[in-house]
Amino acid sequence: MDPVRNPYAPGAGQRPPELAGRDRELEAFDVVLERLARGRPERSVVLTGLRGVGKTVLLGALRSAAVRRGWGTGKLEARPDQPLRRPLAAALHQAVRELSGRNPDEAAEVLGVVKAFALRASSEPAAATTGSRTRTAPKMRDRWQPGIDVPAAVGRADSGDVEIDLVELLTDVAGLAASAGRGIAICIDEMQDLGAEDVSALCAACHELSQQGLPLLVVGAGLPHLPAVLSASKSYSERLFRYVRVDALEREQADRALRSPAQEEEADFTPEALDALFAATDGYPYFVQAYGKAVWDVAPTSPVTAEDVAVAAPQAEAELAVGFFGSRYERATPAEREYMRAMADLGEQAGDGAVGTAEVATLLGRKPQSLSPARDALLKKGLVWSAERGRIAFTVPHFGRYLRRHAGE
Ligand SMILES: Nc1ncnc2c1ncn2[C@@H]1O[C@H](COP(=O)(O)OP(=O)(O)OP(=O)(O)O)[C@@H](O)[C@H]1O
Ligand SMILES: [Mg+2]
Repeated sequence: MDPVRNPYAPGAGQRPPELAGRDRELEAFDVVLERLARGRPERSVVLTGLRGVGKTVLLGALRSAAVRRGWGTGKLEARPDQPLRRPLAAALHQAVRELSGRNPDEAAEVLGVVKAFALRASSEPAAATTGSRTRTAPKMRDRWQPGIDVPAAVGRADSGDVEIDLVELLTDVAGLAASAGRGIAICIDEMQDLGAEDVSALCAACHELSQQGLPLLVVGAGLPHLPAVLSASKSYSERLFRYVRVDALEREQADRALRSPAQEEEADFTPEALDALFAATDGYPYFVQAYGKAVWDVAPTSPVTAEDVAVAAPQAEAELAVGFFGSRYERATPAEREYMRAMADLGEQAGDGAVGTAEVATLLGRKPQSLSPARDALLKKGLVWSAERGRIAFTVPHFGRYLRRHAGE
């Protein structure tokens, strides 16, 4: 069918033509926003799930819901080894701008605090490396500017202790929102990549703000071990965050994700085509989009048939091998690849669930300790995760199968 009208959208963070199976989460989030705006206590929300299940897309949809209610919102993506300060300051800059219409003077003052918070970061390396320089190290200050055109506040959010600074900063930003009868939502994607100190400070700040009844919401998204990261940081994190598991789509929703965009274009699928598509995708949203896209281009006419799916499958798999699997595999070192191949081999019998780290070592004929660096690096790269001690699984659905098919490449 006409490729120009192909509605499907495979790709990281690509908004799907139909956001299937997430109505419950969206409704629950509206209640959270409404409660917070009325000064009621609410937990922040953390989305967790495997790669490609639609966390980033759902995070974006939740942010849009907050924007529709006039909240100030900002988004950042955590990266390993990158401190929270600058990206958070940029996100809050955006959030404050969204709120500033109602109260420009207070907003300007709060922006000064955001700037002070951001600039404090740039002086840290200088202070840390030379030991002798003062924390305002002017040379570092000149090099980077956060693009906020008000003077930085002095004596607020600039102590250098990220926890103290975060509490002060968020109190002021949320205070601005509260006085406008609104709230602040900070969206943090790949939240498992925040540094330990930043996670701990963020939890402490959320705790403090919720006790003050201020309307601030953190909306996080990350891999399945994110709750463990948060609770290792602060034991009370379970009371701060409501964890929402984002999963593959059930059959009905996977069908909806395929059919409803097609119907918009006056096309449809036969029941057998939908059977074949679900068998191939297991309802994983990324795969649904990739197969939808490939099959649309291959099908001569509507309705799409099971035969079309069979013809399109190699192309869909080839696209996934490059865009979804290959890009991740390439980030691994030879030792890490060897480790993952062993996981894939063991997974073949285990239905590609978690495998024992001891079994991986046995299969490779190595001492378990000698494999720890490879395993830790894979954890840090977000390619594997550990649901329980001594067991390990891929964060990427169907990754074991991909590795077995591409063995030796
Ligand atoms: N509810 C949904 N219905 C249909 N398609 C969806 C849905 N959610 C996500 N998708 C599609 O799935 C793909 C992956 O989405 P997204 O990037 O949000 O996943 P993710 O969980 O953030 O993945 P990663 O962990 O790799 O960041 C995109 O192509 C998106 O369009
Ligand atoms: Mg994502």
